Amino acid sequence: MLQVPHRPDFTIDQDWNAYTAEEHGVWRTLYRQQAKLLVGRAAPEFLAGMAALPLGEEAIPDVDRLNEKLMKLTGWRVVCVPGLVPDGIFFEHLANRRFPAGQFIRKPDQLDYIEEPDIFHDVFGHVPMLAHPVFADYMQAFGAGGLRAMGFGMLTQLGRLYWATVEFGLIRGAEGLRIYGSGIVSSKGESLFALDSDSPNRIHFDLERAMRTDYRIDDFQQTYMVIDSFRELFDATQQDFAPIYARMKGVPDIQPGALLPTDKVHHRGTQAYARAKEAKAG
Ligand SMILES: [Fe+2]
Repeated sequence: MLQVPHRPDFTIDQDWNAYTAEEHGVWRTLYRQQAKLLVGRAAPEFLAGMAALPLGEEAIPDVDRLNEKLMKLTGWRVVCVPGLVPDGIFFEHLANRRFPAGQFIRKPDQLDYIEEPDIFHDVFGHVPMLAHPVFADYMQAFGAGGLRAMGFGMLTQLGRLYWATVEFGLIRGAEGLRIYGSGIVSSKGESLFALDSDSPNRIHFDLERAMRTDYRIDDFQQTYMVIDSFRELFDATQQDFAPIYARMKGVPDIQPGALLPTDKVHHRGTQAYARAKEAKAG
C-alpha cells in the first residue's frame, strides 16, 4: 500500500474518473444491502447524515462534492489516503477536522470482510456521523487526544476508546437500541448481531472501562458499549486524561467478553457465539 506515491501527510487524489464500472458496482451492492438493513437499526443521527450528504447507491461518492456539503454542515472534510496511515498522521488529520478515507474499494469477493478500511467502510460507515455537530466535535477532540496519548505511551488505550465508540458503539434512543459505530453500520453480519444476538454483552459506556478492554479485531465483538446521547460521549472526553492514564498503568486489561461487578449491564451476553467459535478453532 505504502508504495503508492503520496504527499507527506499521506493524502492522495481521489481520481474519481479512474474507478471502473466493476468498482462502482461493488459500492452499489454494499450500499443497497446496508441502506435496507439500517432502517430501524442505525441511529436516527446516522440516517440523517446519510440523507443530508450526497451519498447515493449509484456510484462511489465524489469526495469533492461530498466535502462541499460536509464543510457547510460541520467544517469537516474527507481526504483520500492509500490505506492505513501512521497513528500520528491519522490523529493530526482528525484534530484538524479531516477524515482520512481509503481511496480504493474492496474486490467483489471481499464484500463481507476486508482487513484494511476501504472507501465503503470509511465513507459510508464514518462520514454520516461527521455531519452531526456533537459527534463532529468528539472526533476532533479525539484527534487532539490521540496526539497527547502518543506522548504518554497510551495509544493502545486510546485506540480501545475509538474501537468501543467510533467503530462499534451503540446508542439507546427514544426508539430503543441503535447502531452508530462505523464497523457495525458497514457490515451486514454485525448490523444484525450487534442488536439481535443474545451472545454479546451490552454494557453502559464508561470511558476508563473502554480504555482497559481488549477487543476482537477479526470477528464480532463480545461486548458493546451503549451511550444515551452523543453529548454524553463528548462530555466524557472533556477532562484531562493524564490522571486517567496514570491510574491505568499497571492495571490489568479486561478480556473482551468479561463483565465486572461495576458494569452497568444492559444485556448479559451468553457468549455462545464466541464459545462456539473457540471450540471450532480447538
Ligand atoms: Fe473505521
